[in-house]
This record gives sequence, C-alpha cells and structure tokens, in this order.
Amino acid sequence: MDLGIKGRAAIVTGGSRGIGREAARQFLEEGVRVMICGRNAETLERTRDELAKATGGEVHAMVADMTKQDDIGRLVAAATERFGKIDILVNNAGQMYSGRFGVMTDEGLKEQLETKLFGFLRAIRLVHPIMKAQRWGRIVNLIGGAGKEPDPYMFGSGITNSGLLNITKSLSTEFGEDNVLVNAVCPGWVDTNLWRRNAQGLAQELGAQSEEEARRQAARKNSLNRFGKPEELANAIVFLCSERASYITGVSLNLDGGRLKALW
Ligand SMILES: NC(=O)c1ccc[n+]([C@@H]2O[C@H](COP(=O)([O-])OP(=O)(O)OC[C@H]3O[C@@H](n4cnc5c(N)ncnc54)[C@H](OP(=O)(O)O)[C@@H]3O)[C@@H](O)[C@H]2O)c1
Repeated sequence: MDLGIKGRAAIVTGGSRGIGREAARQFLEEGVRVMICGRNAETLERTRDELAKATGGEVHAMVADMTKQDDIGRLVAAATERFGKIDILVNNAGQMYSGRFGVMTDEGLKEQLETKLFGFLRAIRLVHPIMKAQRWGRIVNLIGGAGKEPDPYMFGSGITNSGLLNITKSLSTEFGEDNVLVNAVCPGWVDTNLWRRNAQGLAQELGAQSEEEARRQAARKNSLNRFGKPEELANAIVFLCSERASYITGVSLNLDGGRLKALW
C-alpha cells in the first residue's frame, strides 16, 4: 500500500533507538525525509548511518535533549532549514517513570514532565505554525497505557500520560481546521531498552524471581501474551502520519496486545 507521503519531511524525536528508530526506518522506506535526535551522540550517529545505508533515504541527526527548550528550538530550526518545511512530528523521546507513590520524588516527576509533557508541548508549539501555513500536518504523541488505566507501579508515568492524552485530544480539536491531525499511540510493554532498564524494578513489583519471570507475568496481562516489537508500534505511527489517515484525528490508539480492557 502506498501511504502517499513520499517527499514529506519528518522529525522523529528519540529516533536513535527502540520505537523511534523503527518509525524513522519505515518513514525512510516510504520516501519521507527524516531528522532524528537523541542525547547520546555516538548511538545517534550510528543509527543515522545504519538507516541511511539500509534504506537509501535522506536521514539527518542532531544531538538534542528534549527537556531543554533551546535544544528543541535548534532541532526544529535545523529540520526546517534542511527540508524547507515540516510535515510530520513524532513526539517519541522519553522514558518511563515507574515506581509507587512511596518512592516517587518531586525531582523524578519534574524530569518526567519536562521530558514528555513539556518536551512534547514545546515541539508542537514550534511546528504547528509551519504545518498550519501549509495546511497539512501530522503529529503523533507516544504516550502509554497508564494514562488511561492508573497502575500504582506506574504512578509518575500515569500522571504525565493523562496530561498528554488531554493535550492530544484538545489540540486535535483546535488544529483540525488547519488540516493538522493530532493523534496518540499508547504502547503496552515493548521490547526495547526501556523495558530492559525497568526489568529489575518490575520483577520486584510483581514478586518475580527473575527478570524473565517478570516478563512472562507482565506479558500474560495482555490478550496476545507477549511483548510488542518496535516495528509493530512503528507500523501504526507511520500509518497515522500518512495520507491514508486523512480522516483520523484525536485518536489514542492502544498498541498493547489487548492489555487495557476498557471500552475506549
Ligand atoms: N517500551 C515500552 O514498553 C513503552 C511503554 C509505554 C510507553 N513507551 C514510550 O514510547 C517512547 C519510546 O520508548 P522506547 O521503548 O523506544 O525507549 P528507548 O528504547 O529507551 O528509546 C528512547 C529514545 O528516546 C531518546 N531520548 C530519551 N530521553 C530523551 C531526551 N530527554 N531528549 C532526547 N532524546 C531522548 C533516547 O536516546 P538518548 O537516550 O540517547 O537520549 C532513545 O533514542 C517513550 O516516550 C516511552 O515513554 C514505551
């Protein structure tokens, strides 16, 4: 299926690893020109080179920390200069802030809010005028299931995620008249570094004897009984940013193998 986005220009924040990297790869395969960012220069540059080699597409990379307003400004300015426009923003850079109320700190929550809530919001603030002027834009926010169904172990992430769901819906309403579509993807457990960094804590939370047992227990909570693969998330992200998704806005898609049982 031709997604109709050849020649479009995209920013994928946190495109150096995991879900973002896969999304960047699929955009490149569709003929989209891509700018990725991350904090670790070595990983970022390696990814850029590997993606360019594997796809033959136009991919650029810039070290940028999405908690820093100046870095976000530099990133959007560099992409605009390279591409002459920005059609697509995938707000993906981020982490999970896991742990129950008792261990949550103000500093930890502030960092999570800076990364995901303010990081996403500030990037949108900069790309929206560009998308509005060209009357075509796609914004996808990577959020997470704890924003819809509170989980004591995901207390900090849940707070951030609920705000992001509200931002997604609210901006989809406001930007609709500009043909700028704003959607969200809510992953369950996906097999990336993020999971590996959280494996020990999850094992403790679940009373599992090993990280592997924690993984099995966590997977059992979803209908497909397995973790997601980064490319499965990317499939949906790229589709939501495509011409084929021209009538979809304000949606938050659960990509969790059937983990959430609510009706929305
Ligand atoms: N994997 C899951 O199970 C899961 C579940 C729910 C939600 N999510 C969400 O999905 C998104 C992608 O997660 P993932 O699993 O692909 O994680 P990942 O494998 O850890 O990759 C995260 C990416 O974001 C970058 N990044 C992190 N913090 C950043 C910052 N402050 N500024 C710029 N770049 C930053 C990382 O590069 P550097 O470290 O070099 O900066 C990396 O490229 C995240 O927003 C995450 O919260 C994931």
